[in-house]
Amino acid sequence: MKPSNSLAHAPATRRNREPIFNVLQTYLPDPARVLEIASGTGEHAVYLSSNLSQVVHWQPTDIDPTALSSIEARRQSDHHPKLFPARLLDVTAPTEMPQGDYNTLLAINMIHIAPWQAAEGLMKLAQNLLSNDGVLFLYGPFWQADVSPAESNLAFDASLRQRNPLWGIRHLDEVTHLAKEQGLIRQAVVPMPANNLSVVFRKE
Ligand SMILES: C[S@@+](CC[C@H](N)C(=O)[O-])C[C@H]1O[C@@H](n2cnc3c(N)ncnc32)[C@H](O)[C@@H]1O
Repeated sequence: MKPSNSLAHAPATRRNREPIFNVLQTYLPDPARVLEIASGTGEHAVYLSSNLSQVVHWQPTDIDPTALSSIEARRQSDHHPKLFPARLLDVTAPTEMPQGDYNTLLAINMIHIAPWQAAEGLMKLAQNLLSNDGVLFLYGPFWQADVSPAESNLAFDASLRQRNPLWGIRHLDEVTHLAKEQGLIRQAVVPMPANNLSVVFRKE
């Protein structure tokens, strides 16, 4: 994310937003009340909340105040009736957990760029917050037991670990196990461009 004034831009969002939109169109509840974790620049929040017809309410959040400024600047730059003001949320801090009537939790490119505790916090949040049949959507690179790692993901993983030894691409089986412990069943794994996956969990 490169800040320019308060409006930050992450180049990957332009490339991945359409494929993500296509998967969400299939798996989102209708109507969808979405809590987005780690919204970053806010580009996905703006694009997806505006274009997904199922969405009636999109709440962007992030741990980083700079990200919140960017999300808010984007939100106010145009008419986004379904997009709510960005809120501070650290998914590892249970005392700050939001309340609300949400049936969708979404985290794009987060669990590998944060310590494993962020994945744990995300699953606990999903268990506490989602209504029955609610959906948790993850997007990013994962290691899969039956798939050889892509060269690009090996290099990306090494660069993440160099930046922070607690970061790194997660094993899909371990994430699925963590989800199951919190009552979330894996519903779909969708291959995405550039060796990423969309992973959809549903609360039982
Ligand atoms: C690579 S960015 C992804 C942003 C956006 N989802 C996207 O795809 O463009 C990772 C984001 O995770 C956020 N993040 C890291 N740790 C977090 C935590 N514990 N709780 C909430 N957000 C966190 C960072 O502030 C950052 O905005």
